[in-house]
Amino acid sequence: MQFPSRACLILLVSTCLAAPTAQAQTAAKQLAQPAAKGSPASAAKAAGAVPAAKKTASGALAPLPVKPAPKSSHAPFEAGDCKICHQSADPKNPGPVTKTGPALCLDCHEEFSAILKRPHTHAAAKSNCTNCHNPHNAAFPKLMLNETRQLCVTCHEDIKKLIDKARVPHKALTTGAQCTNCHNPHGSAVARLLVQLPFDLCVSCHNRDDATDANGKKLQNLKSWLDNNKVWHAPVAAKDCSACHQPHGSEHFRLLTEDYPPEFYAPYNAQSYALCFSCHQEKAFSTAKTGTLTSFRNGTTNLHFVHLQQIGRGRTCRACHEVHASKQDHHIREGVPYGSGGWVLKLNYKKVDGGGSCDKTCHAEKTYSNKPPVKAG
Ligand code: HEC
Ligand code: HEC
Ligand code: HEC
Ligand code: HEC
Ligand code: HEC
Ligand code: HEC
Ligand code: HEC
Ligand code: HEC
Ligand code: HEC
Repeated sequence: MQFPSRACLILLVSTCLAAPTAQAQTAAKQLAQPAAKGSPASAAKAAGAVPAAKKTASGALAPLPVKPAPKSSHAPFEAGDCKICHQSADPKNPGPVTKTGPALCLDCHEEFSAILKRPHTHAAAKSNCTNCHNPHNAAFPKLMLNETRQLCVTCHEDIKKLIDKARVPHKALTTGAQCTNCHNPHGSAVARLLVQLPFDLCVSCHNRDDATDANGKKLQNLKSWLDNNKVWHAPVAAKDCSACHQPHGSEHFRLLTEDYPPEFYAPYNAQSYALCFSCHQEKAFSTAKTGTLTSFRNGTTNLHFVHLQQIGRGRTCRACHEVHASKQDHHIREGVPYGSGGWVLKLNYKKVDGGGSCDKTCHAEKTYSNKPPVKAG
C-alpha cells in the first residue's frame, strides 16, 4: 500500500469523525508533552521512567461519544456495566477504577501475565496498558489511542528524529503493521522487543525477487542470495545486519549506517567509504606502495590503490566484491551486471598461491603476484 493513500484515509477520518479525532489529537499532544525537551518528565524518561498518557480535561481515557461510531470498542465497556472496572455502576458517575496499572487488565487478559514475564518487556506496557489503549473505545483499531507509528514516536523522539531526517526511508515502517511489523509492543523473548531474531526478521521480508527501491531499481533477494552463496562476509555470518544497516531509516544509500558510494565509478575519498573503513583499515587502500597492507598487490604495487584511485574511473568496492556473500574467497564477485538488459560482465577471478588473476573482464588477463611481482604487459 502507498503511504499517500493512508494519509488520505487519516484526512478522511479527521473530517468525518471530528469529535473523537480531536480527542485523540489532544491525547497525542498530552502524550507528547511529558517527553518534551527540558521538562521534568523528559528527565524522568532519561532515568528510565515511563512518560505516561495524561488524562485531559476532555478525558483522553474517557469513553468517546457513540456517534460517529468509534473504530473499536471494548467488550466489557459495551456490556455497559461500569462496575467491572470502576467503583460504581453509574455511567454518569462511575468513580475511580478499582485497581491501578496493568492489574486491572490482567484479571481478564490472563495471557498478559506471561507476556509481562518474557525476558524483554516494554516499560510502557509494564507501567500502564492505558499508555496505548483506551479501555472503553477508540478512533483506531485495537483500542489504540492513536495510529500505531504516531503513538510510538510520541515517546520515542529519537526514532522520530531519525525518521524525519532520513533521506532513505525504510518501507517496513510505513506498510502493514508499521512499528509492530518488527516489534512486539508488549514483550518478547528477543532483545529490543523484536518479533523474531534480527537476522530472521530481515530475511523474512527480503525474500522476494520483485522488490524495488524508490527509484524502481531492483533489489536483491537476500534470502536466496545467502542460500546460494556460501562464503558469508563476517558480520553477515554473525547474523548482524544492523552492523551496516539502520533499520529505521538513514541518511545514507541503502539504509547504511555510514557512507558508501552508490555508483560503480566514484572518485576516491576516504569518507565516501566510511562504512568499510569502520572495520577495515583505510591505509591499506590509500598507500600506493606496500609489501604488507594488502594481498591485492603486484610486488609492492597496491592494486587496491590502482583500481580505487584511477583518475576519472575510480572503481568502487562493488566492482570486485560482494558485500553480503559470494561463491569464492575474499568475497570476489563472479561478475558485475552491465546495463539494464541483465548481461553480466564476468570477472573470471582465479586465486593462485600468493596472487591471482582476472581474465576477459574490464581488461584481458592480468595476473598479480605478491612476490616477486608479475611484469606488466
Ligand atoms: C475495562 C475496564 C473499564 C470499564 C469496563 C470502564 N472503564 Fe472507565 N476507565 C477505565 C480506566 C482504566 C480509566 C482510567 C483511570 C485512571 O487513569 O485513573 C477509566 C476512566 C474513565 C473516565 C475518565 C475519568 C477521568 O477522571 O477523567 C470516564 C469518564 C470513564 N472511565 C467512564 C466509564 C463509563 C461510563 C463506563 C461504563 C459505561 C466505564 N468507564 C467502563 C477502565 C474502564
Ligand atoms: C472484564 C474483562 C476485561 C477486562 C477487565 C479488560 N478486558 Fe480487554 N477485552 C476483554 C474482552 C472480552 C475482549 C474481546 C476479546 C476478543 O475479542 O477476543 C477484550 C479485548 C481487548 C482488546 C482488543 C480490542 C480489539 O479491538 O481487538 C484490547 C486492546 C484490550 N482488551 C485491552 C484491555 C486493557 C488495556 C484493559 C485494562 C485497562 C482491559 N482490556 C481489561 C475483556 C476485558
Ligand atoms: C506501547 C503501546 C502498548 C501498550 C503499552 C500496550 N499495548 Fe496492547 N497493543 C498495542 C498494539 C500496537 C497492538 C496491536 C498489535 C498488532 O496489531 O500486532 C496491541 C494489541 C493488544 C491486544 C489485542 C491483541 C490481538 O491479538 O488482537 C490486547 C488484548 C492488548 N494489546 C492488551 C494490552 C494489555 C493488557 C496491556 C498492558 C499489559 C497492553 N496491551 C499494553 C500496543 C500497546
Ligand atoms: C508511553 C511512552 C511509550 C510509548 C507510547 C511507546 N514506548 Fe517504547 N519504550 C518506552 C520506554 C520508557 C522504554 C524504555 C526506554 C529505555 O529503557 O531506554 C521503551 C523501550 C522500547 C524499546 C526498546 C526495548 C529494549 O529492550 O531496549 C522498543 C523497541 C520500543 N520501546 C518500541 C516501541 C514501539 C514499537 C512502540 C509503539 C507500539 C512504543 N515503543 C511505544 C516508552 C514508550
Ligand atoms: C524493519 C524492522 C523494524 C521496524 C519496522 C521498526 N524497528 Fe525498531 N528496531 C529494529 C531493530 C532490528 C532494532 C535493534 C537495532 C540494534 O540492535 O541496533 C530496533 C530497535 C529499536 C529501539 C531501541 C533503540 C534503538 O534505537 O536501537 C526502539 C526504541 C525502536 N526500535 C522503536 C521503533 C519504532 C518506534 C518503530 C516505528 C516507528 C520501529 N522501531 C520500527 C527493527 C525495526
Ligand atoms: C516487514 C517487512 C520488512 C522487514 C522485516 C525488513 N524490511 Fe527492509 N524493506 C522492506 C520493504 C517493503 C522495502 C522496500 C522495497 C520493497 O518494496 O521490497 C525494504 C527496503 C530495504 C532496503 C533498501 C532501501 C533502499 O531504498 O535503498 C534495505 C537495505 C533493507 N530494506 C534492509 C533491511 C534490514 C537490514 C532489515 C532487518 C533489520 C529489514 N530490511 C527488514 C520490508 C522489510
Ligand atoms: C558489511 C556490511 C553489511 C552487512 C552486515 C549487511 N549489509 Fe546489506 N548492504 C550493504 C551494502 C554496502 C549494500 C549496498 C550494496 C551495493 O549497492 O553494492 C547493501 C545492500 C542491501 C540491500 C539492498 C540490495 C540491493 O540489491 O541493492 C538489502 C535488502 C540488504 N542490504 C539487506 C541486508 C540484510 C537483510 C542483511 C543481514 C542478512 C545485511 N544487508 C547485512 C552492507 C551490508
Ligand atoms: C562491521 C564490520 C565490517 C564492515 C562494516 C565491513 N567489513 Fe569486511 N570484513 C569484516 C570482518 C570481521 C572480516 C573478516 C576478517 C578479515 O578478513 O578482515 C571481513 C572481511 C572482508 C573481506 C574478505 C577478506 C578476505 O581476505 O577474505 C572483504 C573483501 C571485505 N570484508 C570487504 C568489505 C567491504 C567492501 C566493506 C564495505 C562495503 C566491508 N567489508 C565492511 C568486517 C566488516
Ligand atoms: C579491482 C578489484 C577490487 C576492488 C575495486 C576492490 N578490491 Fe578488495 N580485493 C580484491 C582482490 C582480488 C582481493 C584478494 C587479494 C588476495 O588475497 O590475493 C581483495 C582483497 C580484499 C580484502 C582482504 C585483505 C586484503 O587487502 O588482501 C579486503 C578487506 C578488501 N579487499 C576490501 C576492499 C574494499 C573495502 C574495497 C573498496 C574500498 C575493495 N576491496 C575494492 C579486489 C578488489
